[in-house]
Amino acid sequence: MSNQHASQRRVRIGVIGTGGMGGRHVRNLTNEVAAAQVVALSDVDAARMQEVAAACGAVHTFTDAQALINHPAVDAVLIAAPDRFHAALTRACIDAGKPVLCEKPLALTAAEARAIVEAEVAFGRRLVQVGLMREYDPAHLRVKQLMDSGALGKVLAFRGVHINGGALSWRTVEDVVTNSAVHDLHSARWLMGDEIVRVYTTHVPYSPERPDTARLLLIQFAYRNGAVGQIECNMEAGYGYEVDVKLTGETGSAETNSLQSAVVRHQNQRSQWIEQDWLQRFETAYVHEVRAWVHSLQTGVPTGPSAWDGYVSMLVADACIASARTGQPMDVEIPRTAEMYKRA
Ligand SMILES: NC(=O)c1ccc[n+]([C@@H]2O[C@H](COP(=O)([O-])OP(=O)(O)OC[C@H]3O[C@@H](n4cnc5c(N)ncnc54)[C@H](O)[C@@H]3O)[C@@H](O)[C@H]2O)c1
Repeated sequence: MSNQHASQRRVRIGVIGTGGMGGRHVRNLTNEVAAAQVVALSDVDAARMQEVAAACGAVHTFTDAQALINHPAVDAVLIAAPDRFHAALTRACIDAGKPVLCEKPLALTAAEARAIVEAEVAFGRRLVQVGLMREYDPAHLRVKQLMDSGALGKVLAFRGVHINGGALSWRTVEDVVTNSAVHDLHSARWLMGDEIVRVYTTHVPYSPERPDTARLLLIQFAYRNGAVGQIECNMEAGYGYEVDVKLTGETGSAETNSLQSAVVRHQNQRSQWIEQDWLQRFETAYVHEVRAWVHSLQTGVPTGPSAWDGYVSMLVADACIASARTGQPMDVEIPRTAEMYKRA
């Protein structure tokens, strides 16, 4: 979108998937981003979609996502449908020449993600941002700032902890890696400014009879520059939601601290409230994410996690899954970054 165009009117956005995450994005775009207007929604659950449409004032509603993508009143698309639809819907947006913010993961496999990168490169400019939104969390950004300032010296290790309160059903290793740990894999690359080249995954299944499931997953890895890393992904902690990272350098360390609420001392107890889920923990990050996206659409300067980031996170994810299956460490072959995706 040209600057001149952008200055004339708000960016008209169509949102695909109006469940928990899509509903939050719609609310944030409507209430927190003056430059955006949600004009269209798509969901196979028509009743849910109409409820969200009534709240945000979207005038176009479709049970067929392609119809939303094609609609001339839609300038840009936000995809918050379930993971298995992401790759095809993102491809459809590229084919239509429309910018898209696709929730993570970009695809379910690296091969699918690679096809998106190729389509975008063939299109000739960046259209895709991926919802790897830890980049918009103020605490993560502070750690990144410290890392980039050199204050930590050479950074030797990354540690990520991702604790979920409880899953509604048992999750497979594949699902835990591609749906949950993919966030942490991206943090591990982005914060360290380095690529993961070798992974080793172990997990605790929900039951010994279902070794394909993962209640807790541990990923250990090595970076290209010699640093090491570890991610613990707990799918059923039973008490709340926490996400934290720690970088350990030669001259210092930096870490986030999810526990920001007041410490209460009462009746011989010291306690602190723990957030329920990602919508609470990353409330601010989700607002900053869509605000930055809309700003990038107005200025024409792409921002945030790209299709390339979505692709590389899936390359690492594929290796993590293969490692869990085989019990062996796996190398990750990272291709040379295409010019279009190089970060300043
Ligand atoms: N970035 C994050 O931190 C974060 C957090 C939660 C979820 N997510 C991602 O957001 C996406 C949605 O997750 P959710 O928790 O909102 O799930 P959800 O089940 O609450 O919502 C999904 C919605 O998509 C609709 N839907 C299903 N198939 C569709 C189709 N073909 N076209 C249009 N709509 C369709 C469903 O009816 C539902 O309303 C997932 O990809 C998930 O991984 C990201």
